[in-house]
Amino acid sequence: MSIILGIETSCDETAAAVYDSDKKLLLSGSIFSQIKLHEIYGGVVPEIASRSHLEKIDIIVQHALNDAKITLNNVDVVAVTNKPGLVGSLLIGFCFAKAISFVKNKKFIVVDHLEAHIFSSFLKDDFSVYDIEFPYISLSVSGGNTGLYLVEDFGKFELLGQTIDDAAGEAFDKIAKIIGFGYPGGAIIEEYAAKVGFKDFFNYTRTKDVSTSLNFTFSGLKTAVLYDLVKRGAYDLNSGPIWDNVTLDLKKKVSSSLLVCISDIFEQKVKLVFSKYPQVKTLTFVGGVACNKYITERLERLCKKLNKKFVSPHCGFCSDNAAMVAFVGGYKAEQNKFSDLDCDILKD
Ligand code: KG4
Repeated sequence: MSIILGIETSCDETAAAVYDSDKKLLLSGSIFSQIKLHEIYGGVVPEIASRSHLEKIDIIVQHALNDAKITLNNVDVVAVTNKPGLVGSLLIGFCFAKAISFVKNKKFIVVDHLEAHIFSSFLKDDFSVYDIEFPYISLSVSGGNTGLYLVEDFGKFELLGQTIDDAAGEAFDKIAKIIGFGYPGGAIIEEYAAKVGFKDFFNYTRTKDVSTSLNFTFSGLKTAVLYDLVKRGAYDLNSGPIWDNVTLDLKKKVSSSLLVCISDIFEQKVKLVFSKYPQVKTLTFVGGVACNKYITERLERLCKKLNKKFVSPHCGFCSDNAAMVAFVGGYKAEQNKFSDLDCDILKD
C-alpha cells in the first residue's frame, strides 16, 4: 500500500500528486490554477470552477502519473479531498477518484482539506519528508480558514482557536479589491507593502481579546480599513471606491499597514499559544497566506526568540495542492483508515 495518488479539487486548483509512503518521497505533483479564469470577476465563480475542473482533471492526473513514471496499475491507493470546499468543485475530484478506484479496484481514502493543510508542513522542497517532532502547533491560514491546532500525531490534532468571522486570506483579498488590486490580493498586497518597507502608516485597530482567546477576528479590521479610506476621501460608503483618490502612494501605505497589522495579530497569537503550551517545541505555518515572506520571516524570528523550531513549507505546498492530500492518504493507509466507495461527499 505504498503508492498513493492524491487528488485535490476543493476550490480553484485542479491538482494531482503521487507519493511513495515506503520511501517517504513525493514522486510528482501536477497543478492547474484557475486564477486567470476568475480574476476578472474579483473572486472564484463556483460554476466556472467546476466546469474547469471537469475539463482538466484527467489531463492533470495523467500528468502526475507520467511525471512519477508510473501508470494507474502501479497505484495502490487513491486519496481525494472530500471536504470542505465548493461542492461542485469537490464533486469533480471525488467522482473521478471514486471511478478510478472502482474500475481499477484500488483502495480509496477521503481526506479533509484542513487536515491536509496541517500536515503539508512535512513536505520538503526536494520532495522528501521533514521529521517534525510531535506535539507541535500548526498555524493554518488560507483564503477560507484561519486556525491554530495542537498536533499530537499523524491524524490526531485539536483545534485550539479559529477565526470567528473572516479568514485572514479573505481579509487580504477583500481589502485588495477595495483598493483596486486583482484577485487573489494577498500576494499583491505583499508586493506593494515591500515598496514602502513594511511600515505601519495607519495603525489599524488590532484584535481586542488578545490576552486570553486563541480565536481570531478579521472582519473588524476590514471595517477599520474601510472607514480610514472614507476619512481619506478614497471611499464612499454608498458608491464604493473613489478611484481618483486611491493613489499609488495610498495603495502602498494601506498594503503595508494591513500586512503589519495582520502579522502583529499572528505574533500575539503565537506568543499566547506557547504561553499556554510551553512544552511544545515547534510551530508550523501553512496555508496560502504562508506564501507571504514578510509574515513567515517575522514568525521565524519570533520562534527563535522563544526558543522554538519553525517550519513552513515551500509556497507550492502552502497553497492548495495534491501532494498534501497524497501525504495524508499515505499515513491513513498505514493506519488502515480506508473509506467505503459508497461514502458521501462532505462527510467523514
Ligand atoms: O490555501 P489557499 O491557496 O486556498 C484556500 O484553501 O483558501 O489560500 C489562498 C489565499 C488567498 O486568500 C490569497 O490571497 C492568500 O492565500 N495568499 C497570500 C499570499 N499568497 C496567497 N496572502 C498573503 N500574502 C501572500 N503572499
